[in-house]
Amino acid sequence: MTTKTIAGKFEELFPNQNDIPEKFQFANPVEQREYLINGEIVKWEGPVKDVFSPVFINENGTLKRIRLGSQPVLDRNAAAKALDAARASYDNGRGEWATMSIKKRIDHMVNFTRRMKEKRDEVVQMLMWEIGKSFSDSQKEFDRTIDYINDTIESLKTLDRDSSRIQKVQGLYAQIRRGPLGVVLCMGPYNYPLNETYCNLIPALIMGNSVIFKPAKYGVLLHRPLLEIFRDSFPKGVINFIYGDGAETSGTLMASGKIDCLAFIGTSRVANILKKQHPNPNRLRGALGLEAKNPAIILADAELDMTVSEVITGSLSFNGQRCTALKIIFVHESISKKFLDKFCSKIAQLKAGMPWEENVMLTPLPEKGKTEYLKELIDDALAKGAKVANENGGTVLESFMFPAVLTGVNSEMRIYHEEQFGPVIPVIEFKDINEPIEYMVKSNYGQQVSVFGSDSDEIAHMIDPLVNQVCRVNINSQCQRGPDVFPFNGRKDSAEGTLSVSDALRVFSIRTLVAAKESELNKNIISEILDERKSSFLSTDFIL
Ligand code: G3H
Repeated sequence: MTTKTIAGKFEELFPNQNDIPEKFQFANPVEQREYLINGEIVKWEGPVKDVFSPVFINENGTLKRIRLGSQPVLDRNAAAKALDAARASYDNGRGEWATMSIKKRIDHMVNFTRRMKEKRDEVVQMLMWEIGKSFSDSQKEFDRTIDYINDTIESLKTLDRDSSRIQKVQGLYAQIRRGPLGVVLCMGPYNYPLNETYCNLIPALIMGNSVIFKPAKYGVLLHRPLLEIFRDSFPKGVINFIYGDGAETSGTLMASGKIDCLAFIGTSRVANILKKQHPNPNRLRGALGLEAKNPAIILADAELDMTVSEVITGSLSFNGQRCTALKIIFVHESISKKFLDKFCSKIAQLKAGMPWEENVMLTPLPEKGKTEYLKELIDDALAKGAKVANENGGTVLESFMFPAVLTGVNSEMRIYHEEQFGPVIPVIEFKDINEPIEYMVKSNYGQQVSVFGSDSDEIAHMIDPLVNQVCRVNINSQCQRGPDVFPFNGRKDSAEGTLSVSDALRVFSIRTLVAAKESELNKNIISEILDERKSSFLSTDFIL
């Protein structure tokens, strides 16, 4: 048995041009040739690549993918120029930005944020069109990013206030602050191309680093409206935007040995390639957000309605394209039938459609070849004895796939191990709680887990071993990154480093101090530096 490829009830999913509301019409493709290097927006004269939307248009019965424009495909020379610009601006820690006071850096960031907000509509519209994220979620992504920047500024003020004092220990005066690392290569993911990228880029910048940013494969043009604002808001060379093939651009940068920190969100396979290219791995710091296979464990006494609703949002928000998505469901055999009945009937009611439609949940997928990949996973599972439990499960129409709930899944199947990052939901019945726990012990991933149940004894018994398998145990709640002040990280191949509003400031900086033995001479020197505000670092100024 193979999965269905005919669209069935989804035949009408993609609109005619005229069905698209006026507000969302995509009239003018964006032919981007510009990139940002050394404080200048440079025009690229080399090759470009078309950018397509996951949305198709029905033209007299033929489905045609919407072309959104094109992006520059820079070569290694252009990437190397970005690196030169970043290094020159950092100037081995002597650059204007790296030595600027925190207060002044904050002023730059406040100015940037004010102007970024003015671009909300343009960015949101492009986000929606480029990755097929619903309009309301695209708006949320933009707003969450602005909140994140504002929270970062507040958190940095607190960090700075805590550091604005001289300590005296064992006859030594010292002031301890955090300083920048150097040049950060920042590469974001396609599923949160704005938010997750800026959750690295902004703290990296505000801590005084120089940054080279390369967008993911999808979700590229949405950054275009912000290029001028970046250019105007920071000293030249502090932020550089490059585009193009990863091996050609990021590979060149890593192999130069001149990247001090890699902030990467994507697969562990690519992260490992990038890290290995660096000739001095001991010098390279990292903030990596990688794959996950977060399980839901549904115990016999789970409250069903709430569980179903959490597992739906957990597994299908943005069509399951979240690193935190629930990607494998373990359900106790005593309630598996009831769970599956409710779960499948709720999935049948989810609204499939175009990203601009109100309350839409299921939308087309941006990655080229994604539905084919997901279909392979389904077919592999079916060939090994699994079943599609829900009506229309796995139905494909071009870039759209209706969610498939797979039952009878076992360890022989690819879906048991691979991170599907899409709307395929494997469900496994268990008798003994050690079965899902063993799965987690053996898994290559260790981000989060969701446990559903009512008995505090049983849940308490699970918490203690589970917190050592993953980094967040969610009780009767889906897995998620937020709130952004909570630590976000993972064990094994799921992450390196911990991010949160305050942790990110630490990840992109290093503690550094000024110390002096107590003596009249040193007291005088320190007093004069402080009184006359001669240093940005050695300073007791308190940011209000
Ligand atoms: O793709 C992974 C994201 O960090 C998930 O964030 O849990 O807020 O959707 P979220």
